Amino acid sequence: MPILEVSDLQVTMGPQQILRGVNLKVEQNGIVAVMGSNGVGKTTLMRAISNIYQISGGDIIFERDSISNLGADKVVKMGVCQAPEGRQIFANMSVEENLVLGAYHQDKSHFNEDLEWVFELFPILKERLKQQAGAMSGGEQQMLCIGRALMGRPKLLLMDEPSLGLAPLVVKSIFDLVVKIRDAGTAILIVEQNAKAALCVADYGYIMEGGAIILEGPSEELAKDDRLTAAYMGGHAHA
Ligand SMILES: Nc1ncnc2c1ncn2[C@@H]1O[C@H](COP(=O)(O)OP(=O)(O)OP(=O)(O)O)[C@@H](O)[C@H]1O
Ligand SMILES: [Mg+2]
Repeated sequence: MPILEVSDLQVTMGPQQILRGVNLKVEQNGIVAVMGSNGVGKTTLMRAISNIYQISGGDIIFERDSISNLGADKVVKMGVCQAPEGRQIFANMSVEENLVLGAYHQDKSHFNEDLEWVFELFPILKERLKQQAGAMSGGEQQMLCIGRALMGRPKLLLMDEPSLGLAPLVVKSIFDLVVKIRDAGTAILIVEQNAKAALCVADYGYIMEGGAIILEGPSEELAKDDRLTAAYMGGHAHA
């Protein structure tokens, strides 16, 4: 049974239909990538799953139940946590305060254990605990953003463009950790424009265009697909 199943998901903003019936699944212990260029609706999809945006049609099933109308707070409590686009850490707060906020819904009894897990993944955060979050590098801020989401003990981690603006080596180290996080038992749905990086770690991928999925398949197959290579891997189709 998949941990997440999105069916015929629709989101409308004023007169504009942004999501036009999106279908996707994330298996338990899966890493799934959603790829597509600017403005196709990737962030809207993530926000809809997190109940930050209200949906106008379709359904979102998490574990066995619909979470379509629970509200953002409840969805986090159920174990769906997001590392949002643009990081959105609290820049004026310390690294530590940001991590504490990520654990907002959690019982304090396992706070230290969860913090140790985050430090194991991102040792730099331990060194920078008292530092102002906004004064860290882009890569460090991305680590904090993921670390903060992990403090919410996600069963499903949503990651919106973790590679954005980061140097290739930093991107690689973050994607290596994505695999480690999955291996520790968290399913992952990752949104990326960087299809190459995403397909290296994902088991399955979806390509979005104009608010709908236009292509899907196991990562090895997608990586070989001419339509993907042309559009997102340095080809000329959409240049
Ligand atoms: N709150 C909103 N109000 C109005 N329009 C919105 C809102 N959020 C998103 N949109 C519109 O929905 C479309 C999809 O936006 P979205 O941010 O989901 O794209 P994206 O695939 O994440 O793009 P990018 O790769 O640039 O992050 C865009 O045309 C955007 O302007
Ligand atoms: Mg986006």
